[in-house]
Amino acid sequence: MKDSVHTVVEVCVGLNCALNGSYMLLENIRKHYKIEIGVISDNGIQLLERECGRFCNCSNTVFIDGVAYKNSTFDSIVKYIDAQNIKSYLYN
Ligand code: FES
Repeated sequence: MKDSVHTVVEVCVGLNCALNGSYMLLENIRKHYKIEIGVISDNGIQLLERECGRFCNCSNTVFIDGVAYKNSTFDSIVKYIDAQNIKSYLYN
């Protein structure tokens, strides 16, 4: 476990996103990075659940460092997480 966060990933688990599979998306992200929810990983990623992000018509919604990524799929969001994590690592 690392003590500094480079990238915060919040998966919306509000009703619309949950009905559209956000818990499965959360679990797939967790498995992909081999991390636990709420625990800062060795590479500085913190994965969290969050309530409705107000983009319900574009579910699933995932926030990476506070920026909303709408209509997220596992493949799309992993690319954004990797890109943001590398950027945060290099510039912070
Ligand atoms: S339920 Fe996810 S944005 Fe509203």
